[in-house]
Amino acid sequence: MDNHLEKIKYMVRDKIRGGIYPEFLVAEEIKKVRDFHLSMDEYEATPLAKLETLAKYLGLGGIYVKDESYRFGLNAFKGLGGTYAIAKLLCKKLHIDINDASFEYFNRPEVKEKIKDMIFVTATDGNHGRGVAWAATKLGCKSVVYMPKGSSQIRLEAIKEAGAEASITDLNYDDAVRLAQKMSEEHGWYMVQDTAWDGYEEIPNWITQGYTTMANESLEQLKLEGIKRPTHMFLQAGVGSFAGAMLGYYANVFKEDVPTTIIVEPNLADCIYKSALAEDGKPRFVGGDMNTIMAGLACGEPNTITWEILRDFASAYVSCPDYVAARGMRVMASPMMMDDKVVSGESGAVGLGLLTMIMERKELKDLRDKLGLNKDSIVLCFSTEGDTDPEHYKKVVYDGKNPSC
Ligand SMILES: Cc1ncc(COP(=O)(O)O)c(C=O)c1O
Repeated sequence: MDNHLEKIKYMVRDKIRGGIYPEFLVAEEIKKVRDFHLSMDEYEATPLAKLETLAKYLGLGGIYVKDESYRFGLNAFKGLGGTYAIAKLLCKKLHIDINDASFEYFNRPEVKEKIKDMIFVTATDGNHGRGVAWAATKLGCKSVVYMPKGSSQIRLEAIKEAGAEASITDLNYDDAVRLAQKMSEEHGWYMVQDTAWDGYEEIPNWITQGYTTMANESLEQLKLEGIKRPTHMFLQAGVGSFAGAMLGYYANVFKEDVPTTIIVEPNLADCIYKSALAEDGKPRFVGGDMNTIMAGLACGEPNTITWEILRDFASAYVSCPDYVAARGMRVMASPMMMDDKVVSGESGAVGLGLLTMIMERKELKDLRDKLGLNKDSIVLCFSTEGDTDPEHYKKVVYDGKNPSC
């Protein structure tokens, strides 16, 4: 790698730590989630892109990328969690089981009347808030969204368009979460936050469960390709709910044969990497503005529940400078031969960007060897967003911003 480039830092375990398989992500729970999503008109499995030529070029057996830019027309996966958590909250209010609920049920006039005064509040860089706003509006409820300082104006507009009262605060992400919590307590609003901490676990767990529809679809789609199990997964993390959902799902399915999983973060917000380095198994925090192009991953405080899944079942933790994400965006925007094209935004692209660098750069050969990435490897990545900030997407993809050499 060029000397002037900041280094990619990593930590690889000799073998996974192991632990209790996450009970809230077992097959029975996953089925409830999928059934609820199936009840939504907008629900459709997102495509699994196949990058066969790239895999061959890099010396791998296969590369598959789940393309979440197609999710619910929201350009990111986050609506999966927001819809499920709001549905569970409505079920609680209405005293019904999620198995008896559906989008159609919540939209019946007599049911709508009972839920119309519920207000949902959250803090978000963009994608989660858009999902919450969209779900609340569809159910005839209101939502309030606080965004951290430096958030993109375009993302703010998208959240407002989805029906929320939204604003960009002068706080960093974690402080914006505390503001949302304070407002929910003061006004009796329902806080729908995509991260857990001691004492706030039920709703984030529903959100994490909501994400599993994506994992569930990915495994079904791989099976259609004749693949029983990916050998490797690259999962990007902000607070780690998304990665925890994917890894928890796959760990429950494959037990001791869980795919070799690499947790990927921006180096300015690498709280999972730092937590993994600490030997006591407890989460560590990162503070400051976390000024990375990977806005969705700019979170300094791990979800306390999913952190344990990442700690126990992941094999490696990688802290990446922004150029790794930018490279992933460019690689997916310019597919080789007949490979599928994926429009992948900053937080969606870092996993694939890292994979390409691990396979190509001699400085990362040690990591390649430790992960056992070779011609027999079938790698699964998740492009969790499309061009959610189209101006910045063009700067990276057209103009070569954040070069990787
Ligand atoms: C596009 C995208 N990918 C990944 C993530 C990471 O999810 P988590 O914060 O659950 O780790 C986010 C979070 O906002 C996101 O917006």
